[in-house]
Amino acid sequence: MADQLERPDEGVEHGGAPPHLPSPTIWPFGFALGVALVLVGLIVSWPVAAIGAVIAVVFGFLWIREATREVRAAPPPEPPQKRPVVEEPEEEEEIPRYPRSVFLEGATLGIGALIGGVVTVPALGFAVLPAFVGQEYEDIDLGPLENFPAGQFVIAKFRSKQDEPEDVSRRTAYIRNNGMTQKGEPSFTIISNRCVHLGCPVQPQGLVEEAKKVDTESGTVELARTDPSGFSCPCHGGAYNIEGDRTQGPPVRALDRYAYSIREGRLVLGEPYSVGKVEGSGKDAKMKAYDIADPGQHVDGPEQFFYPYVP
Ligand code: FES
Repeated sequence: MADQLERPDEGVEHGGAPPHLPSPTIWPFGFALGVALVLVGLIVSWPVAAIGAVIAVVFGFLWIREATREVRAAPPPEPPQKRPVVEEPEEEEEIPRYPRSVFLEGATLGIGALIGGVVTVPALGFAVLPAFVGQEYEDIDLGPLENFPAGQFVIAKFRSKQDEPEDVSRRTAYIRNNGMTQKGEPSFTIISNRCVHLGCPVQPQGLVEEAKKVDTESGTVELARTDPSGFSCPCHGGAYNIEGDRTQGPPVRALDRYAYSIREGRLVLGEPYSVGKVEGSGKDAKMKAYDIADPGQHVDGPEQFFYPYVP
């Protein structure tokens, strides 16, 4: 009998009364929506992921607050009554007890979070890590400047990494010597041959002379002169003008370009970068350089937030 008086909650449950259940709430749905937005945002764009994270944190906080409301609202245990030691033995300190429903609710949340973590953390790692690891680019020596006559395009085939197999590291660039700028600096237009639709190699629209091999510090480089009117992609009909700017077809931006430098009279290729649109031509061309992007990826305009969706 004394035991029943000390644990009123258990007495009610064993007596057949309906068990206590948490009231319905929308917080879990908001939390799930936020997590889904984070996962989608990691692929689509960082702003979407940030919005999802905020939603997940806010709704997660409200959910936890709702779930623990009863525990927090429970009155603190009363201090044990002290009685004269002489008359009767001292009572044991009362241990706070929680309803079974609260325990089950907490256990369900914990197991759900554990399973969610086991499922999502590896996927997140694969999705996010490459963005932080970055890619190393080697400078490529393309040989003496005399190999690049002013006003002419030269097709250069080279290896982007000397320690990788040739099949993997083989690259092609279209290089035009634009002559000297008004500041007296040499100007080059160096366009990648990777189509920015799906990555097929674009071809020059014009005759190509026989290639010659040049030994450089970056291995053997093949150089062939050409006089193109533009560049076209054989895969899906994408076309670009002589500056690499898109003119028709499914490509979503201008062809990627390479940075360059002149060292001891030799042309040295630097990192590739992406371009949204090219204004002007030759040494007067103006464009904004972006970190190298994947084929099919917009780098400017509102479309950049909806990658990989292509309108
Ligand atoms: S890959 Fe070039 S147009 Fe599709």
